[in-house]
Amino acid sequence: MNAKIAVLAGDGVGREIVPEAVKVLKVVAERHGHTFEFIPGNVGGHAIDKVGVPLPAETLAIAKHSDAVLLGAVGGPKWEGLEYSLRPERALLGLREQLGLYANLRPAKLYPMLADASTLRRDVIEGIDMLVIRELTGGIYFGKPKGIEPLPGGGERGFNTEVYTTEEIRRIAVVAFDAARKRRKKVTSVDKANVLESSELWRRVVTDVHRGYPDVALSHIYVDNCAMQLVRNPRQFDVLLCNNIFGDILSDEAAMLTGSIGMLPSASVGAKVGLFEPIHGSAPDIAGKNIANPIATIASAAMMLSYAFQLDKEAAAIEQAIVKTLELGFRTKDIHAEGMQLVGTVEMGDAIVRNLPS
Ligand code: NAD
Ligand code: IPM
Ligand code: MN
Repeated sequence: MNAKIAVLAGDGVGREIVPEAVKVLKVVAERHGHTFEFIPGNVGGHAIDKVGVPLPAETLAIAKHSDAVLLGAVGGPKWEGLEYSLRPERALLGLREQLGLYANLRPAKLYPMLADASTLRRDVIEGIDMLVIRELTGGIYFGKPKGIEPLPGGGERGFNTEVYTTEEIRRIAVVAFDAARKRRKKVTSVDKANVLESSELWRRVVTDVHRGYPDVALSHIYVDNCAMQLVRNPRQFDVLLCNNIFGDILSDEAAMLTGSIGMLPSASVGAKVGLFEPIHGSAPDIAGKNIANPIATIASAAMMLSYAFQLDKEAAAIEQAIVKTLELGFRTKDIHAEGMQLVGTVEMGDAIVRNLPS
């Protein structure tokens, strides 16, 4: 097949890990007879430095006219002082909103050979395989009113609004139940329905959508309990259905069950063009040192092949190469353990390319 892929490396380690994923995609395309055209675009702090805004119109156009977007990460200390509307993170929110990407899929599974890379005990994390489904274009991230305003008596007031409509909840619940059908048929819906009205509606609509899925088990859990259960007994979870902010927080927590945040890929879908990116950020503390783990991004490229292009065999080839590389003992610093071979970002990418099935 022929496909146009927008490549938005962004900031920090984004600039190191994205080239590794592109390297893998190029070899996969060649081996399987596909033509991928890679179209680079400026995004985040990098775009601010070049053209003054985090999401230039040109970048948005590139994304809209591509078949899929591969993104690294945005943000960093250099741009933290900027007004909110001009910060790198706005680019990501803008892309998600403009591309209609309301469903963010963040699979967290443990590669067995990494059981000792997690800070949690092997017997707690062994066998975990969950899918965090995060609503991505609603909730407190986008709700209005929002802002910071002066108070008459002095001081200021900062405020955001958590808001969900029936339709926004319905469509993400459908994604979760459909996904569960292809897995262990269990959805755990996360909310704070004991306190928040938006969660009360969330729970009601999810329960309603569930009526169409009698073969899938549904349970509800409060987010605070869920955060605790994720480290107490993570194997109990199959599909975790979350609103925007709960999904953001819980997926970072789920990442650590797998050994490192550098391992967790994601797919954002919902309309025509999907966006594929690791769940981690620009990791300014390790950027530019060739130590970032590129696996989350390479696995995001695999998700792109299967979700955007239905190239399941090719996606599986990347997955196999990751497994083989880990089996051979290659480890970046974040997942390194005694007796393993410590490698850099580029060397990990090279090893995965070498281990692609021919
Ligand atoms: P982060 O995810 O960038 O880093 C958290 C920790 O995880 C750091 O210690 C980092 O070194 C480590 N880490 C992250 N990715 C890694 C990798 N591939 N390999 C090894 N270690 C890795 O989160 P943060 O420090 O809170 O945020 C840094 C910047 O990134 C901020 O500007 C934030 O807004 C932005 N951010 C962007 C995205 C995104 O673009 N999707 C996501 C999260 C944070
Ligand atoms: C993520 C990030 C983003 C989010 C930020 C950078 C806007 O943390 O993709 O998880 O909060 O969604
Ligand atoms: Mn996050």
